[in-house]
Amino acid sequence: MQQRPLGRTGRSVSAIGLGTWQLGADWGAVSEDDALAVLAASVDRGVTLFDTADVYGDGRSESIIGRFLSQRPGHGITVATKMGRRLAQEPENYTPANFRAWTSRSRANLGVDTLDLVQLHCPPTAVIEDAATYDALDELVADKAIAAYGVSVETCEQALAAIARPNVTNVQIIFNPFRLKPLDEVLPAAEEAGVAIFARVPLASGLLSGRYTSGTTFAENDHRSYNRHGEAFDRGETFSGVDYEVGLAAASELTAALPPGVSLPAASLAWIASRPGVTSVIPGARNVRQAQSNADAAALLDGDFDVDAFEAAVYAVYDRHLRATIHPLW
Ligand SMILES: NC(=O)c1ccc[n+]([C@@H]2O[C@H](COP(=O)([O-])OP(=O)(O)OC[C@H]3O[C@@H](n4cnc5c(N)ncnc54)[C@H](OP(=O)(O)O)[C@@H]3O)[C@@H](O)[C@H]2O)c1
Repeated sequence: MQQRPLGRTGRSVSAIGLGTWQLGADWGAVSEDDALAVLAASVDRGVTLFDTADVYGDGRSESIIGRFLSQRPGHGITVATKMGRRLAQEPENYTPANFRAWTSRSRANLGVDTLDLVQLHCPPTAVIEDAATYDALDELVADKAIAAYGVSVETCEQALAAIARPNVTNVQIIFNPFRLKPLDEVLPAAEEAGVAIFARVPLASGLLSGRYTSGTTFAENDHRSYNRHGEAFDRGETFSGVDYEVGLAAASELTAALPPGVSLPAASLAWIASRPGVTSVIPGARNVRQAQSNADAAALLDGDFDVDAFEAAVYAVYDRHLRATIHPLW
């Protein structure tokens, strides 16, 4: 597994990491044993980055990661958590006192004195553009409550605003074959500034698994049931904002363009990880099999997978089905 520099921190993280929203059991049930097995399977295949948040399972995801890491001394894993969604996402809630309270809770959940990396969890644009936000985060670094910070964003404009700040380590943004706008300006700007990019929702919430059909159903407490139109949070987080039926057609066209023996999720992850400016891709996995095959997709980066041919198909499918509706929104 390729390991890449994490911004200017001096740490390295794997080209393919692990997203752990699912381990909070917010996407339908995942037992604690299964969650621990997903973490172990990932690490055993070279994953050294876990992405979590204080709200995933209201701290369950962080706590399970903490328990897992306590059993692996000297593990070398970077945990990137997030804060800012335990209260309404209103600018007045992003105070130094709340930052302190939220990071204290995450430190307890993860069982560490200093958090490796804390990302603001899709705050309002006003917070991203406010110098006071970064002053408060710099204080947490000075106090060793956190080692580094970043910003998870919804839009490319927000990403560019965060990248322009001097002490931001990473920006996390949706980037996948159904969401190409970050290629235009965000990835080049991040590379130029030495800011790491974490590509989230890389499989468009599973649409890019290529295995869903019109008849596929999702659990009632899975956002793919209740947030298709942004009823609970930004609709771009569910299926990457792509209409489900359009996504099925686009995924099947991409599948048809694959070389023999390469799956659509593996091709998607490897292509994302291969784009200049991307530090790590963070697919979510609900079971060991998914975690293993996602980590194994990193092998395509060093093999004879024709990334350019896949990219040509990605652009053609995006232009045909998605650019007009997706590009203007995020
Ligand atoms: N605001 C934010 O900052 C934010 C928002 C969203 C996500 N994130 C982070 O980004 C991570 C990744 O995004 P995501 O989990 O939302 O979406 P994703 O990675 O695009 O999709 C995850 C889903 O894809 C399917 N899948 C995964 N690996 C597979 C494989 N090898 N073969 C077939 N299907 C596979 C699974 O679907 P099934 O469940 O159907 O099996 C899984 O639940 C999250 O876990 C979280 O850490 C952050």
